[in-house]
Amino acid sequence: MDVFEGKSWISGKGLNHVCIGVEDGKISSVKKILKGDTHTNFHGVLLPGAFDMHVHFRDPGYPHKEDWKSGSESAAAGGVTAVVDMPNTNPFTTDLETFRAKESTAASKSVVDFGLGVNVDQDLTKQTWFDTIPAAFWKLYPYGISSDDFFSYANEVLDKTKKPLVIHCEHPDHMHNNTLNQLSDHTQNRLIAEPECLASMPSSPYLHVAHLSTFEGLNRVPKLATSEVCPHHLLLNLDNCKSIDCKVDPPLRTRKDNTELYDAFRSGKISILSSDHAPHTVEEKRSDNPPSGLPGVETMIPLMLNEVSEGRLKLERLVNAMSEAPANRLGLERGKIIEGQTADFMIVDMKKSLPIKLDQLHSRSNWTPFENWSAIFPSQVYRRGELIAEDGEIKQEKGGQNLF
Ligand code: DOR
Ligand code: ZN
Repeated sequence: MDVFEGKSWISGKGLNHVCIGVEDGKISSVKKILKGDTHTNFHGVLLPGAFDMHVHFRDPGYPHKEDWKSGSESAAAGGVTAVVDMPNTNPFTTDLETFRAKESTAASKSVVDFGLGVNVDQDLTKQTWFDTIPAAFWKLYPYGISSDDFFSYANEVLDKTKKPLVIHCEHPDHMHNNTLNQLSDHTQNRLIAEPECLASMPSSPYLHVAHLSTFEGLNRVPKLATSEVCPHHLLLNLDNCKSIDCKVDPPLRTRKDNTELYDAFRSGKISILSSDHAPHTVEEKRSDNPPSGLPGVETMIPLMLNEVSEGRLKLERLVNAMSEAPANRLGLERGKIIEGQTADFMIVDMKKSLPIKLDQLHSRSNWTPFENWSAIFPSQVYRRGELIAEDGEIKQEKGGQNLF
């Protein structure tokens, strides 16, 4: 048994000085005193590893933007020990064949554990594998689809599913794409897309709303649904981020939207934090028709830990939103420092706030909207008891497993 001793976040109890025993990748014991084969006295605080249920690792299809190696290393360095990858790769993850191919690529390259989302297409619920495919969830996009199909697919899946339907809720009729002269044109193009979409979504406990971005949308989340918010919709707005590089779907909004979403996140009304890590290269971002998306899996936890250290967010709420809540939502028993759970954790020095520098990041996109923002990066990150990242250096190759 390996023993880790120091101040640890124990769910329901807060920060306590304890010994954590790790055996075969699991937490085998949490006690005041423990004797093991190895004994590590750590400095700082030990928190559960984060579970980011919304990333785009671009593999297969766009390895110049990211692949399972670079994406998962970016995750690991930022304290994220498990991710769910979205299906808009090339080919899309839409059936057993594309699912198995991506699963095998991920298993051969990813340093963090993972799940895969499957794309909602016509006749999804009629497929023979609908009830058995080990997907984390279904994902429905508003691109290239009529609004009739969009809402009828959503209703049909919600009617038949036993796993969450994650929706990108921007109304297909309001996804205008007029030319951008400035970033605010993108926001203007999509002004009512989110609230209009949410107003027409049925209420279901299987519904999960991805990347909430507006105050009006927040008020229209169907009653039984859950939701997530990303750091860029909490911290960035059209005043503090004017570059067209910051084009993202759904778009950045106003300070008021940041504040209202942040209040809902603090209260737990928005239960989950996700990154929507959507890397594109600098060249693509500077082209005439820049794609939407911001990288974020590596900066998500460091930025939010800095929010905690500056008193704007409670540690308890962050830990819940980054670890326990996403795992629970997807039916997994993980995200807590208690006996029997997976030994995924990070050690952080809450006093070590430093500006984010591009050359420390691992994503192939090679840019960040958060350059020079203060952040607290984990000093060590453990996946199933193994050290995978230390002070930004990756310590393991691959080893990630499908959690579903
Ligand atoms: O900005 C976005 N980028 N929003 C999405 O929904 C997709 C993503 C991407 O894949 O680039
Ligand atoms: Zn996304």
